[in-house]
Amino acid sequence: MRFKNKVVIVTGAASGIGFATSMRFAEEGAHLALVDKDSDQLENAKKIIAKTCQSNVSLFCFDISKEEDVKKCVNDVKANFGDIDVLFNNAGILDELETIDAQKLDRWNEILSINVIGTMLLIKYCSKVMMEKGDGAIINTASVAGIRAGAGTNAYSSSKAAVISLTQTAACDLGSYGIRVNAICPGLIETEMTRPVFDYAREKGKGHKLGSRCELRRYGRAEEVASVVAFLASSDASYVTGQALAVDGGNTASLNLPGMKF
Ligand SMILES: NC(=O)c1ccc[n+]([C@@H]2O[C@H](COP(=O)([O-])OP(=O)(O)OC[C@H]3O[C@@H](n4cnc5c(N)ncnc54)[C@H](O)[C@@H]3O)[C@@H](O)[C@H]2O)c1
Repeated sequence: MRFKNKVVIVTGAASGIGFATSMRFAEEGAHLALVDKDSDQLENAKKIIAKTCQSNVSLFCFDISKEEDVKKCVNDVKANFGDIDVLFNNAGILDELETIDAQKLDRWNEILSINVIGTMLLIKYCSKVMMEKGDGAIINTASVAGIRAGAGTNAYSSSKAAVISLTQTAACDLGSYGIRVNAICPGLIETEMTRPVFDYAREKGKGHKLGSRCELRRYGRAEEVASVVAFLASSDASYVTGQALAVDGGNTASLNLPGMKF
C-alpha cells in the first residue's frame, strides 16, 4: 500500500501498460485520474478496477497533445482530489513501418505532438502543482527504440529519444523542488500497440520466437512494466531521478550478435 491516499494521474490508461499500471496503483491504495482519448475503453478500465479495488477513480477523455485540455484536466484533478502526487506520462502512438524516404511530414508532426509535446504538457502543468508542496514523482514512458535503432522506425524512435532527453532536462529543472522525473524504456511487451506483431508471428507459427533475441529469451508483460513504474513512483526510489530504466529482458544490454545465443 505504498500509494495509500496518493493521487496519481495515468495517461494512456485505457489499455496495455497504462491500464496494468493503473491497476497496480489502485491495488496499492491510490486515487486515480485516468486519461485516454478512447472513452469506451476508459469506462471499461474503470469498471475492471472497481471490481477489485476501492480506489476513487475519475476519467478524463481527451488528446494529450491539446494544451487547453491538459490544463483543464490538471486543474480539475487538483480541485477534486486536492493534490497530485504521481504522474505516469504514458500515452503514445507508433508510426508505420516505412523507411525515411517514404515518410510524411504530417505523420511526423502527429507522432511528435503526442509522444513528445503531449508528454511535455503533462509535466508542465502537473509540476506546477507538485512545486507548491515540494514533492512529486513523474515517470515518462520512453522505449528501447529511444536508446537504439532497430526497435521502431524513425519518427517513433526519435520521439522516444526526445522523451529520454525531456526526462533528464525536467529532472534538472525540478530536482530542487523535490520532484523526481524518470523514464522507463520498455522492450517488446504484449499490448494492443504490438498486437499486429504478435498476431503475425502466431499466424506464421512463429509465436515461440517473439522476444527470443532478448537475454531472458521472452517478451514482457504489461504487469512487469507496471511494477517498475510503481517502484520509480514510490519512496523506494527516493534518491533516483533523471534516469531512463530499460524494462526489456536485457535486450539493450547486449550487442546481440548473430550466432552468440546459447
Ligand atoms: N508495447 C510495447 O512493446 C511498448 C514498448 C516500448 C514502449 N511502449 C510505449 O508504452 C506506452 C503505452 O503503450 P502500450 O503498449 O500500452 O499501447 P496501447 O496502444 O495498448 O495503449 C496506449 C494508450 O494510449 C492512448 N493514447 C494514444 N494516443 C493518445 C492521445 N493523443 N491522448 C490520449 N491517449 C492516447 C490509446 O488510446 C491507448 O489506450 C506508449 O508510450 C508506447 O510507445 C510500448
